[in-house]
Amino acid sequence: MVSTNEIRASNALINDATGPRVAVFVGGTSGIGKFTVKALFATGTSVRIYLVGRKSSAESMQAFIRELAAINPKAEVVWTEGEISLLAETKRVCEIIKSKESRVDLLFLSAGYAPFGTRQETSEGIEIAQSLEYYSRILFIQHLLPLMKKSEAPKVVSVLGPVWTAAIDLDDLDLKKPGNFSGMKAQTLYVVLGTVTLEKLAIDNPDVTFIHSWPGWVDTGNVRRGGDPNSLWAWFVWLFLDPLIRLVGFSEDVTGQRHLFQSTSAMFGGRGISWKGKPGVNTLEKQDGALFLVNYKCDCTPNPKVVRQLRDKGQVKIWDHTQDILRPYL
Ligand SMILES: NC(=O)c1ccc[n+]([C@@H]2O[C@H](COP(=O)([O-])OP(=O)(O)OC[C@H]3O[C@@H](n4cnc5c(N)ncnc54)[C@H](OP(=O)(O)O)[C@@H]3O)[C@@H](O)[C@H]2O)c1
Repeated sequence: MVSTNEIRASNALINDATGPRVAVFVGGTSGIGKFTVKALFATGTSVRIYLVGRKSSAESMQAFIRELAAINPKAEVVWTEGEISLLAETKRVCEIIKSKESRVDLLFLSAGYAPFGTRQETSEGIEIAQSLEYYSRILFIQHLLPLMKKSEAPKVVSVLGPVWTAAIDLDDLDLKKPGNFSGMKAQTLYVVLGTVTLEKLAIDNPDVTFIHSWPGWVDTGNVRRGGDPNSLWAWFVWLFLDPLIRLVGFSEDVTGQRHLFQSTSAMFGGRGISWKGKPGVNTLEKQDGALFLVNYKCDCTPNPKVVRQLRDKGQVKIWDHTQDILRPYL
């Protein structure tokens, strides 16, 4: 475990010379992304962040943007509106960022929720949480990679969950077969898809560091997002899960600091704020490239047996399927 003191000491070294100068936050309108934005602003560094969010959050974001300006007048927020569950919108947002910036140092992806209700699709025919937690995230990465390669310490951080099984149905990667959709299956699959595809992107782009973060329990209201309000799941969340998360979950400050550390420390891949402790364990075994599966204690959990199985049996199929879906928006 990386201690809170070590994390705060590392984050205290973030300044104009060492920290990210241009960052894109997708999912920074609430929860872990928002806490990380606040922690980044609190360092006082001159960063410009693109805060990407949907229209329904625009009004509530004005107060947050004013709060950020008061915390750090040297930093800048560029509110960038987009319905990022739609791939066409994701592409449009990326085009805006590409037209304004020549480099991106940090891409922080945290939009999404566990879909513990009935299957709901976007107008593009993709299950909403799958679009937010997988397809749209990969599309952001593919669009912004050329800008990230201009950075000295480019980092992609995708916040989702731990990869714990290789038992997925490779013939139904969108869970569209009748009766094949459930919240648990979906969340497990989206974590697997993210890990496998981030690994492929890390191999193809060894100059960029990729992190797949498992945040642990954080009281953000995320568990309430995905279920039908009158379902048994909603009652379970209200009676047990929410109070439990409030009791044992990580605080806003700790979560923000830990994710800022992951976003900036050279512990993961050697680039960024210098790190004298034990280096993180890269998931890639023999190839160049940097993918770190990082848990809520900032320990690396490469889970080699499961990841190797997924790589061997799924990487090509998952990549080809993903590119088939994303091609019209690339
Ligand atoms: N919190 C936890 O304990 C926990 C644990 C394990 C994994 N995770 C996963 O980690 C990620 C981040 O979690 P979090 O707790 O920070 O999440 P969160 O605060 O509930 O939401 C994160 C972001 O998702 C966006 N979002 C949700 N539904 C959307 C939709 N239909 N269209 C567009 N944007 C949408 C939100 O936008 P708005 O602000 O506009 O609603 C927000 O920016 C999620 O994928 C979550 O499933 C969380």
